[in-house]
Amino acid sequence: MKHIVFLSGAGISAESGISTFRDAGGLWDTYNVMDVCSAEAFMRNRQFVLEFYNKRRRELADKKPNAAHCMIAELQREFPGRVLNITQNIDDLFEKAGCQGTIHLHGELTKARCEVCGYVWDIGYTDIVGTEHCPFCKAARVRHHVVMFNEQAPEYVRLYEAMEGLADEGMLVVIGTSGLVLPVEEFARCAPYSILNNLEPQDAIDDRAFSVHMYEKASEAAPKIALLVRRFLNGEDKSEELS
Ligand code: APR
Repeated sequence: MKHIVFLSGAGISAESGISTFRDAGGLWDTYNVMDVCSAEAFMRNRQFVLEFYNKRRRELADKKPNAAHCMIAELQREFPGRVLNITQNIDDLFEKAGCQGTIHLHGELTKARCEVCGYVWDIGYTDIVGTEHCPFCKAARVRHHVVMFNEQAPEYVRLYEAMEGLADEGMLVVIGTSGLVLPVEEFARCAPYSILNNLEPQDAIDDRAFSVHMYEKASEAAPKIALLVRRFLNGEDKSEELS
């Protein structure tokens, strides 16, 4: 059956006021990524890393989804079971927009995880101070539920399954990622149709791998993306219209 896979990165949340990582003024301009977002940093300075993510979590509380998050939620309601949403983002803007079943490849800020038993639970916007106990096994080894560099990313299994499934009547829509962590260009080659939306061309992405590219804000691209998605899912597409 025709289906859509959305794959997003920090750019989709930029207009909601959440910093991207690698754009000018992005998070990795202010912080050295390996000091705050790596397995080694966490082993060296647990409190510092916990506090970095506490700050990110607090900043999320008043952030609102934008037209791009809402567009995906709306398409999921319109085409039940045919719109899969995968993101590298750890914010909760898809959930706030009403998206269902979002796969967060790099974890979720609003959840905590027990390092002993692996139990994951909602903590909303509250800090992790380091003295908490796991509600399941009671161990005092509670951490942020975020995948850092040099850590395993268990949800990548579902990402690769979804990418393999694209060959079978799928459309891939990539929004707001530099392609430096995920090989989105290779993914596009798996799909009969694909759309790329970023603010500007990225060194790591050969946009010729995509049927369509839109270099503009995600909120501005959203209505055009929705139109192409509807045509594709309703079987009205012709390959020449999509390229
Ligand atoms: N609309 C669309 N795209 C945008 C917008 C916008 N309003 N603003 C920025 N972008 C695009 C930029 O053009 C860039 O391609 O978003 C992308 C942001 O790239 P990165 O900052 O590298 O973010 P991302 O690709 O999500 O990073 C991947 O790196 O550090 C890790 O774990 C972190 O999940 C993250 C991963």
